[in-house]
Amino acid sequence: MAACGDGGKGTDTPKDDGKITLGFSQVGAESGWRTANTKSIQESAAAAGYELKFSDAQGKQENQIKALRSFIAQKVDVIAFSPVVESGWDTVLKEAKDAGIPVILTDRAVDSADKTLYKTFIGSDFVKEGVVSGEWLVKQYEGKTDPVNIVELQGTTGSAPANDRKKGFADAIAKAPNLKIIASQSGDFTRAGGKQVMEAFLKAHKDIDVLFAHNDDMGLGALEAIEAAGKKPGTDITIITIDAVKDGMQALADGKFNFIAECSPLLGPQLMDLVKKVKNGEAVEPRIVTNETTFTQEQAKAALPDRKY
Ligand code: AHR
Repeated sequence: MAACGDGGKGTDTPKDDGKITLGFSQVGAESGWRTANTKSIQESAAAAGYELKFSDAQGKQENQIKALRSFIAQKVDVIAFSPVVESGWDTVLKEAKDAGIPVILTDRAVDSADKTLYKTFIGSDFVKEGVVSGEWLVKQYEGKTDPVNIVELQGTTGSAPANDRKKGFADAIAKAPNLKIIASQSGDFTRAGGKQVMEAFLKAHKDIDVLFAHNDDMGLGALEAIEAAGKKPGTDITIITIDAVKDGMQALADGKFNFIAECSPLLGPQLMDLVKKVKNGEAVEPRIVTNETTFTQEQAKAALPDRKY
């Protein structure tokens, strides 16, 4: 695997050894999910025999744009990336298209109106993850009319999972008018962010019933803040998160979380198949949705021993 964090100073000389060269720009290393996703991509590329040029954007769109331009300059066969945010990709995607390099979106979408700028988008249905989380909560309060105060820890501002999970959850709880989001703020998908924002929520609101965190890591950070405030997570405050990484599943099995909607990071094997197809000019489905499930505390206990990440 070749590293590619050179900020766009690629060379112009392509290698022609018959090996597929894949340029992959990753969001960063903000969460357990991301670490598992990176591992899946690196291991699958090695297993497929591709040369992987991997670049870590450290959460910054400008770093991703530089990496994409570097991949174009190096004339890689295929570019894949997980966009930090949804907007602002048209120019660089057009540059890739003009250079004849197919692009695959993985994990996160872009909001470009021109769908010919990329070949396919493989990843989760983030709106659905928000919907199933909200529906589970509505069910817990079925037949009750007392006010239920919800705080929300959003993912990275402007990212597809933050936008879509927020929307899906809000739509689902709209069916129960007593369920109200009283505060909602970004914790940037990190444990530290989740902890810090939850501390502020707990100071500002004495009557929090539910926390909806857009990922496990923010939920895990929030646990620390809740315990430090003398409250029992999972009992005094119902906690719903998304991802189902091992640490999140452990918290669920331990009764500290109450429900997790799964978001699978294991996109590597399918991505490598798609890379080969687009490199060979074969047709691919424009949208490939990852298979996912949900977990209650009992289901987490049963699933934990076999959890891979
Ligand atoms: O885009 C997927 C999201 O990004 C995961 O839910 C989150 O943990 C990650 O950082």
